[in-house]
Amino acid sequence: MSKPDRRHVLVTGASSGIGEALARDYARAGHRVTVVARRLDLLEALAAGFPGTMQPLRADLSEPSNAEEVVTRAAATFGPVDVLLNNAGAQIVGAFEGVAPEDGEMTLRLNLLTPLRLIHAVLPAMRARGAGAIVNIASVAGLVPTPGMAHYCASKAGLAFASESLRSELRGSGIVVVTVYPGPVETAMMRAAVDKLKSETTLADRMPAGDVDTLSALVRAAVTRRQARVIYPKVYGATRWFGPMAAAITGRFTPVPTT
Ligand SMILES: NC(=O)c1ccc[n+]([C@@H]2O[C@H](COP(=O)([O-])OP(=O)(O)OC[C@H]3O[C@@H](n4cnc5c(N)ncnc54)[C@H](OP(=O)(O)O)[C@@H]3O)[C@@H](O)[C@H]2O)c1
Repeated sequence: MSKPDRRHVLVTGASSGIGEALARDYARAGHRVTVVARRLDLLEALAAGFPGTMQPLRADLSEPSNAEEVVTRAAATFGPVDVLLNNAGAQIVGAFEGVAPEDGEMTLRLNLLTPLRLIHAVLPAMRARGAGAIVNIASVAGLVPTPGMAHYCASKAGLAFASESLRSELRGSGIVVVTVYPGPVETAMMRAAVDKLKSETTLADRMPAGDVDTLSALVRAAVTRRQARVIYPKVYGATRWFGPMAAAITGRFTPVPTT
């Protein structure tokens, strides 16, 4: 790894929400940060606050074959990636029959296949250096199957399992893999889900929710401490230890959206 105080951190989905908070947090701590998303104007506005240490890259990550080029372009300016934060994602909330197959498959490519391609792209150089960190932002929805989110749950369960598997595989390599399981965290994505479910249940707005800055601090600390996983807000940690019970309750009581 480059000097521990000045790593090259690549954050996908940094134009808003959790990714933006992670990018700010790492940049404030003095690291060089590459921020990736489609909305270049938002990335440029963010990078303007960190001249010389944050570079914006526009890329559509719903196409996994773009991953290699993203890493090559990022490394051309800041050198090999030390910390990969696989954060970009999209969520569909709705009845399965109402989801166009193409949209469902896009979710799987963006949330699962592209993160794996990005790992393929950064891993050889990390192996060569015997150091690096890979952070995968999965979801509590990857632990607890939730009605109305079949594609999202499949993508996040896939990413979480791949991430946990890779952590074990890379034991002793010097490369740390951290799997992050956010429950509801106040962002545009969470708001859209709550608004969609509001008409079906009054509980949608009452679930304990976290904030992006606290989550970002927890993720950064987990990388430093080489922690296996982060589950936030903490109350959702129960879903990991009481999985079948959480799945049964969620499956029974989450309303199925009608559209
Ligand atoms: N908020 C929650 O409650 C929650 C809970 C569990 C897990 N998560 C996960 O946390 C991650 C961040 O979500 P968030 O809540 O911060 O949502 P958000 O504010 O909607 O951010 C999503 C980010 O992903 C990027 N993105 C979406 N489609 C993309 C594409 N095709 N190519 C490149 N970038 C793309 C967006 O940028 P552009 O639109 O500019 O491309 C944006 O920067 C996601 O993986 C999400 O599944 C969130």
